[in-house]
Amino acid sequence: MTILVTGGRGKIARAVATGLTAAGHDVRVASREPSTLGAAAVSYHPADPGPALHGISQVFLYSDPSSAPAFAAAADAAGVKQVVMLSSLSSLGGPEDPHARTERVIAGGSYATTRLQPGAFMSNAKFWSHQVRATGQIRLPYLDAEEAPIHEQDIADAALRVLLDGPGNGHDGRGYPLTGPESMTRRHQIALITQVTGAPIEAVDLTPDQARAELQLRDPGQRETLLAYWASQVGRPQPIKPGVELLTGHPARTFTTWLNDNPGLFA
Ligand SMILES: NC(=O)c1ccc[n+]([C@@H]2O[C@H](COP(=O)([O-])OP(=O)(O)OC[C@H]3O[C@@H](n4cnc5c(N)ncnc54)[C@H](OP(=O)(O)O)[C@@H]3O)[C@@H](O)[C@H]2O)c1
Repeated sequence: MTILVTGGRGKIARAVATGLTAAGHDVRVASREPSTLGAAAVSYHPADPGPALHGISQVFLYSDPSSAPAFAAAADAAGVKQVVMLSSLSSLGGPEDPHARTERVIAGGSYATTRLQPGAFMSNAKFWSHQVRATGQIRLPYLDAEEAPIHEQDIADAALRVLLDGPGNGHDGRGYPLTGPESMTRRHQIALITQVTGAPIEAVDLTPDQARAELQLRDPGQRETLLAYWASQVGRPQPIKPGVELLTGHPARTFTTWLNDNPGLFA
Protein backbone atom coordinates (compact mmCIF):
# COMPACT_ATOMS: atom_id res chain seq x y z
CA MET A 1 0.00 0.00 0.00
CA THR A 2 2.21 2.81 -1.27
CA ILE A 3 1.14 6.46 -1.32
CA LEU A 4 2.39 8.66 -4.17
CA VAL A 5 3.09 12.31 -3.30
CA THR A 6 3.44 14.44 -6.43
CA GLY A 7 4.86 17.96 -6.57
CA GLY A 8 7.82 16.68 -4.54
CA ARG A 9 9.82 19.92 -4.52
CA GLY A 10 6.91 21.93 -3.08
CA LYS A 11 6.62 22.75 0.60
CA ILE A 12 3.14 21.20 0.87
CA ALA A 13 4.26 17.95 -0.75
CA ARG A 14 7.33 17.76 1.48
CA ALA A 15 5.18 18.21 4.61
CA VAL A 16 2.68 15.59 3.39
CA ALA A 17 5.47 13.08 2.70
CA THR A 18 7.06 13.72 6.10
CA GLY A 19 3.72 13.24 7.88
CA LEU A 20 2.90 10.03 6.03
CA THR A 21 6.35 8.58 6.72
CA ALA A 22 6.06 9.48 10.41
CA ALA A 23 2.72 7.66 10.48
CA GLY A 24 4.43 4.51 9.19
CA HIS A 25 3.29 4.59 5.56
CA ASP A 26 5.26 3.59 2.52
CA VAL A 27 5.65 6.85 0.55
CA ARG A 28 6.86 7.44 -2.99
CA VAL A 29 7.81 11.08 -3.61
CA ALA A 30 7.56 12.14 -7.25
CA SER A 31 8.79 15.29 -8.94
CA ARG A 32 9.39 16.70 -12.36
CA GLU A 33 12.98 17.24 -11.11
CA PRO A 34 13.62 14.25 -8.83
CA SER A 35 17.41 14.65 -8.88
CA THR A 36 17.06 17.61 -6.51
CA LEU A 37 15.32 15.41 -3.91
CA GLY A 38 17.70 12.53 -3.30
CA ALA A 39 17.86 8.96 -4.47
CA ALA A 40 14.43 7.81 -3.27
CA ALA A 41 12.41 10.32 -5.34
CA VAL A 42 11.00 9.18 -8.67
CA SER A 43 10.45 11.04 -11.88
CA TYR A 44 6.96 12.40 -12.54
CA HIS A 45 5.89 13.43 -16.02
CA PRO A 46 2.43 15.08 -15.80
CA ALA A 47 1.69 14.09 -19.42
CA ASP A 48 2.70 10.45 -18.76
CA PRO A 49 2.07 9.66 -15.08
CA GLY A 50 1.66 5.88 -15.61
CA PRO A 51 5.17 4.79 -14.53
CA ALA A 52 5.02 6.74 -11.25
CA LEU A 53 1.58 5.25 -10.48
CA HIS A 54 2.61 1.60 -10.76
CA GLY A 55 1.72 -0.18 -7.49
CA ILE A 56 0.17 2.93 -5.92
CA SER A 57 -3.02 2.87 -3.80
CA GLN A 58 -3.39 6.56 -2.84
CA VAL A 59 -2.17 9.83 -4.37
CA PHE A 60 -1.58 13.38 -3.17
CA LEU A 61 -1.92 15.25 -6.45
CA TYR A 62 -0.71 18.62 -7.67
CA SER A 63 -2.76 18.90 -10.84
CA ASP A 64 -3.30 21.12 -13.83
CA PRO A 65 -5.98 21.20 -16.56
CA SER A 66 -3.71 20.00 -19.36
CA SER A 67 -2.46 16.85 -17.62
CA ALA A 68 -5.63 15.92 -15.70
CA PRO A 69 -7.07 13.57 -18.39
CA ALA A 70 -3.78 11.65 -18.59
CA PHE A 71 -3.67 11.36 -14.80
CA ALA A 72 -7.29 10.12 -14.49
CA ALA A 73 -6.76 7.45 -17.16
CA ALA A 74 -3.43 6.29 -15.70
CA ALA A 75 -4.77 6.22 -12.12
CA ASP A 76 -7.71 4.09 -13.25
CA ALA A 77 -5.39 1.74 -15.10
CA ALA A 78 -3.11 1.44 -12.05
CA GLY A 79 -6.02 0.60 -9.72
CA VAL A 80 -5.55 3.66 -7.51
CA LYS A 81 -8.13 3.77 -4.68
CA GLN A 82 -7.97 7.40 -3.49
CA VAL A 83 -6.82 10.74 -4.90
CA VAL A 84 -6.49 13.81 -2.68
CA MET A 85 -6.04 16.75 -5.01
CA LEU A 86 -4.62 20.17 -4.32
CA SER A 87 -7.15 22.45 -6.00
CA SER A 88 -8.04 26.05 -5.16
CA LEU A 89 -10.77 28.14 -3.57
CA SER A 90 -11.07 29.73 -7.01
CA SER A 91 -12.74 26.50 -8.20
CA LEU A 92 -15.89 27.69 -6.38
CA GLY A 93 -15.99 30.76 -8.64
CA GLY A 94 -17.68 29.01 -11.56
CA PRO A 95 -17.45 26.02 -13.89
CA GLU A 96 -14.98 27.69 -16.25
CA ASP A 97 -12.35 28.27 -13.58
CA PRO A 98 -9.28 26.16 -14.55
CA HIS A 99 -9.21 24.46 -11.15
CA ALA A 100 -12.96 23.68 -11.43
CA ARG A 101 -12.34 22.08 -14.82
CA THR A 102 -9.44 20.05 -13.42
CA GLU A 103 -11.56 18.92 -10.47
CA ARG A 104 -14.23 17.59 -12.83
CA VAL A 105 -11.74 15.61 -14.89
CA ILE A 106 -9.98 14.10 -11.88
CA ALA A 107 -13.32 13.25 -10.26
CA GLY A 108 -14.25 11.26 -13.37
CA GLY A 109 -12.04 8.30 -12.35
CA SER A 110 -13.22 5.18 -10.53
CA TYR A 111 -11.12 5.97 -7.41
CA ALA A 112 -12.40 8.10 -4.50
CA THR A 113 -11.58 11.82 -4.90
CA THR A 114 -11.27 14.55 -2.30
CA ARG A 115 -10.62 18.16 -3.31
CA LEU A 116 -8.64 20.50 -1.05
CA GLN A 117 -9.57 24.06 -2.00
CA PRO A 118 -7.19 26.53 -0.33
CA GLY A 119 -7.26 30.26 -0.83
CA ALA A 120 -4.09 32.36 -1.15
CA PHE A 121 -0.99 30.75 0.35
CA MET A 122 0.98 32.63 3.03
CA SER A 123 4.04 31.44 1.12
CA ASN A 124 3.22 33.92 -1.67
CA ALA A 125 5.02 36.38 0.63
CA LYS A 126 8.26 34.65 -0.45
CA PHE A 127 7.95 36.41 -3.81
CA TRP A 128 7.65 39.71 -1.95
CA SER A 129 10.82 38.93 0.00
CA HIS A 130 12.87 39.02 -3.22
CA GLN A 131 11.62 42.59 -3.83
CA VAL A 132 12.32 43.63 -0.25
CA ARG A 133 15.88 42.34 -0.31
CA ALA A 134 16.56 44.02 -3.66
CA THR A 135 14.80 47.38 -3.18
CA GLY A 136 13.27 47.70 0.29
CA GLN A 137 9.88 47.88 -1.41
CA ILE A 138 6.90 45.61 -2.00
CA ARG A 139 5.24 46.67 -5.24
CA LEU A 140 1.75 45.25 -5.71
CA PRO A 141 -1.56 46.35 -7.20
CA TYR A 142 -4.65 46.53 -4.98
CA LEU A 143 -2.85 46.68 -1.63
CA ASP A 144 -6.25 47.03 0.02
CA ALA A 145 -7.56 43.76 -1.43
CA GLU A 146 -8.60 41.36 1.32
CA GLU A 147 -7.49 37.73 1.56
CA ALA A 148 -7.30 35.12 4.32
CA PRO A 149 -3.94 33.51 3.55
CA ILE A 150 -3.30 29.95 4.68
CA HIS A 151 -0.13 28.35 6.09
CA GLU A 152 1.15 25.54 3.83
CA GLN A 153 1.51 23.24 6.87
CA ASP A 154 -2.27 23.57 7.43
CA ILE A 155 -2.91 22.44 3.85
CA ALA A 156 -0.53 19.52 4.39
CA ASP A 157 -2.20 18.64 7.71
CA ALA A 158 -5.61 18.62 5.97
CA ALA A 159 -4.26 16.36 3.22
CA LEU A 160 -2.72 14.05 5.81
CA ARG A 161 -6.04 13.65 7.63
CA VAL A 162 -7.82 12.58 4.43
CA LEU A 163 -5.01 10.24 3.30
CA LEU A 164 -4.62 8.65 6.74
CA ASP A 165 -8.40 8.12 7.01
CA GLY A 166 -8.31 6.57 3.52
CA PRO A 167 -11.10 6.00 1.02
CA GLY A 168 -14.58 5.09 2.28
CA ASN A 169 -14.23 7.14 5.48
CA GLY A 170 -16.35 10.22 4.92
CA HIS A 171 -14.14 12.23 2.55
CA ASP A 172 -15.03 10.63 -0.80
CA GLY A 173 -16.43 13.11 -3.34
CA ARG A 174 -16.03 16.03 -0.93
CA GLY A 175 -14.44 19.43 -1.44
CA TYR A 176 -12.92 21.23 1.55
CA PRO A 177 -12.57 25.03 1.17
CA LEU A 178 -9.59 26.08 3.32
CA THR A 179 -8.50 29.53 4.49
CA GLY A 180 -6.26 30.99 7.13
CA PRO A 181 -7.77 32.26 10.40
CA GLU A 182 -8.33 35.91 9.47
CA SER A 183 -9.06 38.16 6.53
CA MET A 184 -6.60 41.02 6.06
CA THR A 185 -5.44 43.42 3.39
CA ARG A 186 -2.11 42.91 1.70
CA ARG A 187 -1.17 46.31 3.18
CA HIS A 188 -1.78 44.83 6.66
CA GLN A 189 0.30 41.74 5.82
CA ILE A 190 3.19 44.02 4.88
CA ALA A 191 2.80 45.92 8.17
CA LEU A 192 2.91 42.59 10.02
CA ILE A 193 6.12 41.64 8.19
CA THR A 194 7.75 44.84 9.46
CA GLN A 195 6.34 44.28 12.96
CA VAL A 196 7.60 40.68 13.21
CA THR A 197 10.90 40.89 11.31
CA GLY A 198 11.88 44.52 11.91
CA ALA A 199 12.49 44.97 8.16
CA PRO A 200 11.50 48.50 7.08
CA ILE A 201 9.36 48.08 3.94
CA GLU A 202 7.89 50.67 1.60
CA ALA A 203 4.53 49.40 0.30
CA VAL A 204 3.93 50.70 -3.24
CA ASP A 205 0.36 50.47 -4.56
CA LEU A 206 0.75 49.87 -8.33
CA THR A 207 -1.85 50.97 -10.84
CA PRO A 208 -3.22 48.06 -12.91
CA ASP A 209 -1.11 49.21 -15.91
CA GLN A 210 2.06 49.38 -13.79
CA ALA A 211 1.24 45.89 -12.51
CA ARG A 212 0.79 44.59 -16.07
CA ALA A 213 4.29 45.85 -16.86
CA GLU A 214 5.90 44.54 -13.66
CA LEU A 215 4.14 41.27 -12.81
CA GLN A 216 6.29 38.33 -13.92
CA LEU A 217 3.45 36.19 -15.23
CA ARG A 218 3.93 34.52 -18.57
CA ASP A 219 0.21 33.95 -19.19
CA PRO A 220 -1.64 37.26 -19.87
CA GLY A 221 -4.97 35.52 -19.23
CA GLN A 222 -3.85 34.44 -15.76
CA ARG A 223 -2.55 37.98 -15.07
CA GLU A 224 -5.87 39.58 -16.02
CA THR A 225 -7.81 37.04 -13.95
CA LEU A 226 -5.65 37.87 -10.94
CA LEU A 227 -6.02 41.64 -11.42
CA ALA A 228 -9.81 41.34 -11.73
CA TYR A 229 -9.91 39.09 -8.64
CA TRP A 230 -7.84 41.48 -6.52
CA ALA A 231 -9.95 44.44 -7.68
CA SER A 232 -13.08 42.57 -6.58
CA GLN A 233 -11.60 41.95 -3.11
CA VAL A 234 -10.97 45.60 -2.17
CA GLY A 235 -13.13 46.38 0.88
CA ARG A 236 -14.52 42.80 0.92
CA PRO A 237 -13.25 40.78 3.89
CA GLN A 238 -12.87 37.16 2.83
CA PRO A 239 -15.20 34.72 4.60
CA ILE A 240 -13.23 32.36 6.85
CA LYS A 241 -13.70 28.67 6.01
CA PRO A 242 -13.72 26.07 8.80
CA GLY A 243 -11.96 23.35 6.75
CA VAL A 244 -8.60 23.39 8.56
CA GLU A 245 -10.12 23.03 12.02
CA LEU A 246 -12.68 20.50 10.76
CA LEU A 247 -10.03 18.21 9.29
CA THR A 248 -7.11 18.73 11.66
CA GLY A 249 -8.74 19.54 14.99
CA HIS A 250 -6.47 22.58 15.45
CA PRO A 251 -7.09 26.23 14.54
CA ALA A 252 -5.57 27.51 11.32
CA ARG A 253 -2.11 29.01 11.84
CA THR A 254 -1.73 32.81 11.76
CA PHE A 255 0.42 34.89 9.41
CA THR A 256 2.58 35.83 12.39
CA THR A 257 3.24 32.11 12.96
CA TRP A 258 4.18 31.73 9.28
CA LEU A 259 6.64 34.63 9.55
CA ASN A 260 8.21 33.09 12.65
CA ASP A 261 8.39 29.71 10.83
CA ASN A 262 10.31 31.34 7.97
CA PRO A 263 13.00 33.41 9.72
CA GLY A 264 15.48 35.44 7.71
CA LEU A 265 13.29 35.77 4.60
CA PHE A 266 13.08 39.55 4.77
CA ALA A 267 16.48 40.25 6.31
N1 LIG B 1 -0.12 30.17 -4.51
C1 LIG B 1 -1.38 30.31 -4.11
O1 LIG B 1 -1.77 31.29 -3.45
C2 LIG B 1 -2.37 29.22 -4.44
C3 LIG B 1 -3.65 29.30 -3.90
C4 LIG B 1 -4.57 28.29 -4.17
C5 LIG B 1 -4.20 27.21 -4.97
N2 LIG B 1 -2.95 27.18 -5.50
C6 LIG B 1 -2.60 26.03 -6.35
O2 LIG B 1 -1.67 25.19 -5.67
C7 LIG B 1 -0.77 24.61 -6.61
C8 LIG B 1 0.68 24.92 -6.21
O3 LIG B 1 0.79 26.30 -6.11
P1 LIG B 1 2.17 27.03 -5.87
O4 LIG B 1 1.89 28.48 -5.77
O5 LIG B 1 2.95 26.34 -4.79
O6 LIG B 1 2.74 26.75 -7.31
P2 LIG B 1 4.12 26.51 -7.99
O7 LIG B 1 5.20 27.26 -7.30
O8 LIG B 1 3.84 26.75 -9.41
O9 LIG B 1 4.31 24.95 -7.82
C9 LIG B 1 5.19 24.39 -6.94
C10 LIG B 1 4.93 22.91 -6.82
O10 LIG B 1 3.98 22.46 -7.81
C11 LIG B 1 4.43 21.25 -8.40
N3 LIG B 1 3.88 21.21 -9.76
C12 LIG B 1 3.69 22.27 -10.55
N4 LIG B 1 3.12 21.87 -11.72
C13 LIG B 1 2.91 20.55 -11.60
C14 LIG B 1 2.34 19.57 -12.44
N5 LIG B 1 1.85 19.89 -13.64
N6 LIG B 1 2.26 18.31 -11.99
C15 LIG B 1 2.75 17.99 -10.78
N7 LIG B 1 3.31 18.87 -9.94
C16 LIG B 1 3.39 20.12 -10.35
C17 LIG B 1 5.93 21.33 -8.30
O11 LIG B 1 6.44 20.03 -8.20
P3 LIG B 1 7.76 19.47 -8.90
O12 LIG B 1 8.39 20.62 -9.66
O13 LIG B 1 8.61 18.95 -7.80
O14 LIG B 1 7.27 18.39 -9.81
C18 LIG B 1 6.14 22.09 -7.00
O15 LIG B 1 6.11 21.21 -5.91
C19 LIG B 1 -1.17 25.17 -7.98
O16 LIG B 1 -2.07 24.28 -8.58
C20 LIG B 1 -1.89 26.46 -7.62
O17 LIG B 1 -2.81 26.86 -8.60
C21 LIG B 1 -2.03 28.13 -5.25
